[in-house]
Parts: sequence; C-alpha cells; structure tokens
Amino acid sequence: MEVQTAQDRIDHLIREINRHNYQYYMLDNPTISDYDFDQLLQELIDLEAAHPELKRPDSPTQRVGGEVTKRFESAAHLYPMQSLGNTYSQEDLGEFDRRVRELLAEPPAYVCELKYDGVAISLIYENGLLVRAVTRGDGTRGDVVTANVRTIPTVPLQLQGDYPPLIEVRGEIIMPFSSFEQLNAEREEIGEAPFANPRNAASGSLKLQDSSEVAKRGLDFKLYFALGEQLPENNHFDRLLKLHEWGFRKPDVMEKVADLQGVYDFLHNWDEKRKTLPYPIDGVVIKVNDFEQQRQVGATAKSPRWAIAYKFKADRVSTKLLSVDFQVGRTGIITPVANLSPVSLAGTVVKRATLNNADFMAEMDIREGDSLFVEKGGEIIPKIVAVDYEKRLPDARPVPFITHCSVCGTELQQAEGEAGIFCPNSDHCAPQIKGRLEHFIARKAMNIDSLGEGKIDMLYANGLVKNIADLYSLTYEQLFGLEKVIEDEEGKTKTLSFREKTVQNILSGIEASKQVPFERVLFALGIRFVGEVTAKKLARHFKTMDAVANAPIEELTTVEDVGERVAQSITAYFNDTDNLEILMRLREAGLQFELSQSQSQPASDALAGKSIVVSGVFTVPRDTIKELVERHGGKNVSSISKNTSFVLAGEKMGPEKRKKAEALGIPIISEEEFKAMIGEN
Ligand code: IVH
Repeated sequence: MEVQTAQDRIDHLIREINRHNYQYYMLDNPTISDYDFDQLLQELIDLEAAHPELKRPDSPTQRVGGEVTKRFESAAHLYPMQSLGNTYSQEDLGEFDRRVRELLAEPPAYVCELKYDGVAISLIYENGLLVRAVTRGDGTRGDVVTANVRTIPTVPLQLQGDYPPLIEVRGEIIMPFSSFEQLNAEREEIGEAPFANPRNAASGSLKLQDSSEVAKRGLDFKLYFALGEQLPENNHFDRLLKLHEWGFRKPDVMEKVADLQGVYDFLHNWDEKRKTLPYPIDGVVIKVNDFEQQRQVGATAKSPRWAIAYKFKADRVSTKLLSVDFQVGRTGIITPVANLSPVSLAGTVVKRATLNNADFMAEMDIREGDSLFVEKGGEIIPKIVAVDYEKRLPDARPVPFITHCSVCGTELQQAEGEAGIFCPNSDHCAPQIKGRLEHFIARKAMNIDSLGEGKIDMLYANGLVKNIADLYSLTYEQLFGLEKVIEDEEGKTKTLSFREKTVQNILSGIEASKQVPFERVLFALGIRFVGEVTAKKLARHFKTMDAVANAPIEELTTVEDVGERVAQSITAYFNDTDNLEILMRLREAGLQFELSQSQSQPASDALAGKSIVVSGVFTVPRDTIKELVERHGGKNVSSISKNTSFVLAGEKMGPEKRKKAEALGIPIISEEEFKAMIGEN
C-alpha cells in the first residue's frame, strides 16, 4: 500500500475507533457490534505494524499497552495538587457552610460528588492530545505514569470538539470491586500476597513496569476537576459537563444543591447507597459551584476553603487481642492471624482478623494484651486498623513474630524483596506438603475430586503420601480400612474408615487424572508464580515438559506473562533434584507431559477476538466447552461486562447472569448455536 493511502486509512480507522470507543465507554451506547469493532482494530494493528513510522501517539492501539518503564521519571505539576480538608460529622459540615457564607455576598450553591477511593492523577492535554499522566507525589512533583494510564479505557487519548490548547484534568484512578476480587484470586493462586484493598491494588497497578499488564488490571478513571487558562463555563458543574463533551465520562453521580440541607440529603442517601456501587468510595466531596465564589473563599497553603470531604464512618469496635496464630501457607509464607475476643460488628461476630505480615504488626506496634480497633467499611472483611491505646497495659511487650516455623520448627527466612517471612523447609513442613497436595488435586489442576482436604490429611497422617508422586503408588490394600478419628458437633468422637466404594473411587479418580492435559499438569505442580493462565501459555509455547524444564531464562521471558521473577522461579523448580525425581515418577505413572496432537493445533479462528462467558450446565463438561472456545480462537472470561461478546448459556444459567447480560444487551447463545458457529454440527 502507498504510504499516503496507508496514512489516510490509519487516520480514518483512528477516527472511527475513537468514535466507537466514545459511544461505548462514555455514553454506554455502542453503535457497532463487537465483531465489527474488533475488525477495525485489527486492521489498524496490522497497518501500524507494516508502517511503524505512521503510528500516532493517540492511536487506540495504545490501550493494549506494551511499553515497559523501568524507572518512573518525576515531573513538576503545573498547579500544585492540593488535598481536601476532612470532616466526619454534620456539625463540622455546618461549620464549613457558615465559614463559606461569611465570606460571600450571596449564599452559594454546592455541588456534591462521590469521594472515589483510589489514586489521584493529573492528566495533561496539549492540543487535545494526552501527553502526560502524573501521580500526586508530594503535591508539587509526582511520577510520570503515562504509558500505564493510556491503557485505561475511560481516559481519552485525544479530546474532541472545541477543547483549549492546554488543559490539566484531575481525577481518581480506581479499581472496581470485580477487578479487585479477580486480581486477588489470581495472586493467591500463585502464592502472592493479596492486596489489602482496591486502593492499594490501583496504586500498585499504576506502578507496574509493563503497561500491557496494567491493561489487564481493569482500572477506571473518575473525573473530578480541571485547570487551565481561560477555560469555558463559570462554574464547576457546567465545566464537568463541558469535559464530557470533550471526551470524558460524565461523573456517575453529581448533584447541584441549593443549601446545607441539600448536602445532608445527598450524604445520607449515599452513605446507604454506596453499598450498591461497583467501586469503592470513602465519602462525598462538597464544592462551591461558582468559580467567582470559589475565588472569593480562597485556599490555604494545603487545601481549598471552597471544598470539603465528608468521610463516612466505618463501623468500628475495640476488642481484646487474645493470641496470634502463625499460619503456614502452601508456599511457606507465614501469615499472622489475630484471635480476638468475639465481638459483634455490622451484623456479624468477629473472632479472627488477619495481621497480614511482620511489617504490618511492627507498623501498628501491636503489644501483648492490647485491645485493637476492628473496622468494617465498604468492604466485607473486617480489618484491624489501630491499637486502642487507652486500654494498653503499662510495660506491655511487643508481640514477637516467630523466628521458627510454628509447625516444623525450622528457622524462618525473609523472602527477597517482599514483606513475607517464610519457612524454607518446603519438603518436610506438613502444611506446605499438604498444601501442595491439595493444590495438585484441585478442580482446576488434576481434578481428583474423590480426594479432598480431609482425605489428604488422612493419607499424610498415615505416612502414605509425602509428595504428589506418591499418589500414583497408592494401592487398594494400603487404603482399605484406613481410619480417622473425628469429633462431631457435640464433641463425641467417631471413627471413620475407608470402605471398598471409597477406595475404588479414590483409585479411579487418580487413574483418570492421567488423562488431564499437559497444561493443567504443569499448573498442578505448584511452581511458585505459575498460575493457571501462565501454565497454559507455557504449555502452548514449549509444548513439552522437557522443553519447559530445559528452557533458558531468556526464552522463558519471551512468553507472555512471564517476567524475570517467574522465569527464575521456573528454573529453580526444575533445578531441584527432589523435584526432578518427582517428575520422573509422574512421567512413569503416565501423566501427560506434552500437548496432545489436537491441542497443539488451533481448530479454527471462528471465535477470534471474542470474549465469551460460559455459564450453566452443558451436554459435555464445562471445561470441554471452554477448551473449544480457546481452540477456536476465543477467550474465556469469568464475568459479564460491556466487553463480553456473548454469553454461552447452558441449562440452569443463573438468573443474575441472565439479567446482567440482558441489561447490557449482550447476546445469549445456546450450546447448539455455539456448535454451529464453530462448525461442529
Ligand atoms: S476534588 C483541590 N473531588 O480526595 C483538591 N477530590 O484529599 C481537589 N478525591 O487528593 C480535589 N474524589 O484524590 C475531589 N470527587 C472528588 C474526589 C476527590 C476523590 C480525592 C483526591 C484528593 C483527595 C482529597
């Protein structure tokens, strides 16, 4: 293609794609099918690959990320990033209102907004183009995180309409609850500490080096403010609407109220309604609407006097710390957990709460015999927020972190670069061994559902299994009659023993696992940082266990999702002689150590570019359906969003899912229709 023709086509595609993105993300009103949209995007990706010199900085292909920032530079803010004064009571708000009115000739109208609980960001647009995104930092300088912020779909890359030549837009980067839960589930699966809350997760995500990783974190941008010379409109409310015209999403909630009573109504309403929001807020923000009045009220060095944050009170109680348990996880990481004197809080009785790690305990300065404040905010899980110093006993000693494993007694070590302390005795420490066995038999791994936590306990206690390979040497004779003493609810003891049927079930479950595909075997090994998705990518890339085991770090890191740290962990696993012996035995037992013929080849690209939610019961196992989706080029996603191409519904699909799909206008496809799509009818 001629360069000029390519240039024209690229310009046209960018215009079209930006227009559709705007309809979709800003107006919730798509005017094109996902399929047609994906075709446009793919054409643009291909054209840019053929003509890299024509790639524009506002190209929507930037959203998928790819740029890697090794060190974030810092930049000075054009205008200092101030914070807001906080209040927790209506009286304080009354005081704020009185002060404001004293300074003004006319009583002000206020704008009430939500106080988003995320990370403040400043976006600089020059001639409509997003040129820089900077974190708050110390208020005068922050970190430049532009490549990462470009991946957030609700941040416009290019403004539209009559925008000014230079504008700074401020807002909050947040992580919706659904993305937060998914991220933490993935982290726990690969043995990484979960984020404590969506704010930390958003902040951690913004500082990732690889922007394509950020693109997967499901971040969102919430607009609240703009600055610049001679911007249009003379009040805050209308200016935010103007920003909407230029390409930003309108705030989901923003109300103009005439007086203090209006403010009170707004905050009472949202103190309750916030529980229904899909993202976290920690209060509301009240702003004088008129800019001239804002100027008259003025600002202190730290914060404007024309705005104030009202923070919701989280439910909070103080209760006594009875003791601390130190739990050992599958990867050896030690998690301290507080046993608390039972106390009722926002509808449930709280007896235990995590103390996260040694750093957390030290920062809180938790002492023996302390009472602790436990809070339940928007989040469901109670968290320890502070020590109740008034109840501290004189001379109370700090609660020591254990130096030796609470189970096996081995001296603990500090994990490199993380806030984790771990037990290095991975081969002989019971919870680690049992944890690995439980991971191995899990549904997403080898799926041996005739074994469970209780049975693994029994096998381990009787010395029958010490590692995953031992499962494949179990015999009928060893299992039959195996006993376990259990205590029922009334404290009476009962003896359970394995009968013929149980034993047959266990053995046939283990036998069947020999057919589990290679990628799941790789996941089941429990290599640190290798989750389900990474295992799949490794399997697709290397095709055999030997190839993974022998791959140099440089080749491992060419696989998507595999960074230096993951590669190191894989290499360490395959360099360990005990692991090699286990692998040898698993190979001899007949487990799948390579991709099957049919798996190595994609079946078709009938579903290329489609995100599909599979829900309900089908004529074949759901995992088989999911495999079909992938083999035909589609992508399985777990929850329905605007980005879902269609929902593949079996029998008994949940009514909630159906409602959501219908509300978002997402097609619901039957198993039969699906089979026709992939040419299997
Ligand atoms: S207005 C001059 N509006 O809360 C400050 N801030 O300390 C203008 N925040 O740093 C800020 N939601 O990160 C404003 N609707 C909202 C907000 C909001 C969250 C954050 C912001 C700021 C902090 C206040």
